[in-house]
Amino acid sequence: MPAPRFTLAQRLPADYLASSLGRDVTAGLSAATKILPPKWFYDARGSELFEQITRLPEYYPTRVEQRILTRVAPEIAAATRAATVFELGSGSSRKTRLLLDALTERGTLQCYAPLDVSPSALEQAGAALIHDYPALTVSATVADFEADLTLPPEAPGPRLITFLGSTIGNLDPAERPELYRMLRAALGPDDAFLLGADLVKDRDVLVRAYDDRQGVTAEFNKNVLYVINRELGADFDPDSFTHVALWNEEEERIEMHLRSQRAQTVKVRALDLSVDFAADELMRTEISSKFRRDGLTAELADCGLDVRQWRTDKAERFAVLLAVPSAAPEG
Ligand code: SAH
Ligand code: AVI
Repeated sequence: MPAPRFTLAQRLPADYLASSLGRDVTAGLSAATKILPPKWFYDARGSELFEQITRLPEYYPTRVEQRILTRVAPEIAAATRAATVFELGSGSSRKTRLLLDALTERGTLQCYAPLDVSPSALEQAGAALIHDYPALTVSATVADFEADLTLPPEAPGPRLITFLGSTIGNLDPAERPELYRMLRAALGPDDAFLLGADLVKDRDVLVRAYDDRQGVTAEFNKNVLYVINRELGADFDPDSFTHVALWNEEEERIEMHLRSQRAQTVKVRALDLSVDFAADELMRTEISSKFRRDGLTAELADCGLDVRQWRTDKAERFAVLLAVPSAAPEG
């Protein structure tokens, strides 16, 4: 029997939700300023809501990155001659198809290895991809890219590691170098790293992108409460929280918060935790940092990644950059 063309490896620890989500909720809701990490948005409903966000008129990043990739995919294929595309936080893999097409055209592509915390996103994307790319092997992995960047053993080189959509901006400044160093360690001398990064721009454009008129982003934001209710037996009332998107000028990042509409106590049964919210108290659910060329190039170089190509749209809203391992990694 021929090997299946689509495989889905589960690499999250069996108790991931109970233990990892539990740790984040305990630490984040006991802190003076309440914080939840954004990776918990993405259950099946959260992944679907994100897909809806990508189609909103206000949410420019997906469309702009798609346009840049359409233009530069042939040049990336020529520069990398990749046999494997290994993608972090792949979601629907929609934009990645532009790279898969260009590499198929070049005749080098053999394997696509998407990695995501969302099994539903990987299953849907994988089924569609093997249908549309009859010669491609899709080796998907359910994993947390902050903890585990293991490539499927069958993935041939050269490899192109992609991290699109500016998901890098959802990591805080201390987490980003940790990820770059793990990436650097995963790259061989012939491999390359392709990063999509949203750039600093007009405040109103940014705030509108994270506070759309239809309220899809608000639903996405509140989804984390449904996840905690389901997975940890909490009793959050999502209707008693309001979606807030604000631009933090000093840190150059959009922040999403949930504002408690009244003083209330939320119980998290599985953690034996009781959390008090004051009226109008904010709980931060996501940061989405926006980048400048110098800062991003420098933070990558500090972790042994040399930016070789920096491509943007005309209005410089978004950048797609190709980096390679530098000769002598630092640290
Ligand atoms: N790359 C796609 C999807 C971006 S949405 C695009 O550009 O449109 C962010 C994706 O990253 C989601 O699919 C989410 O499930 C995934 N994700 C978020 N945090 C993650 C983590 N820590 N480890 C693995 N995947 C993660
Ligand atoms: C996935 N990530 C890059 C998105 C962003 O723009 O930060 C998630 C998102 N949050 C609100 N809208 C979209």
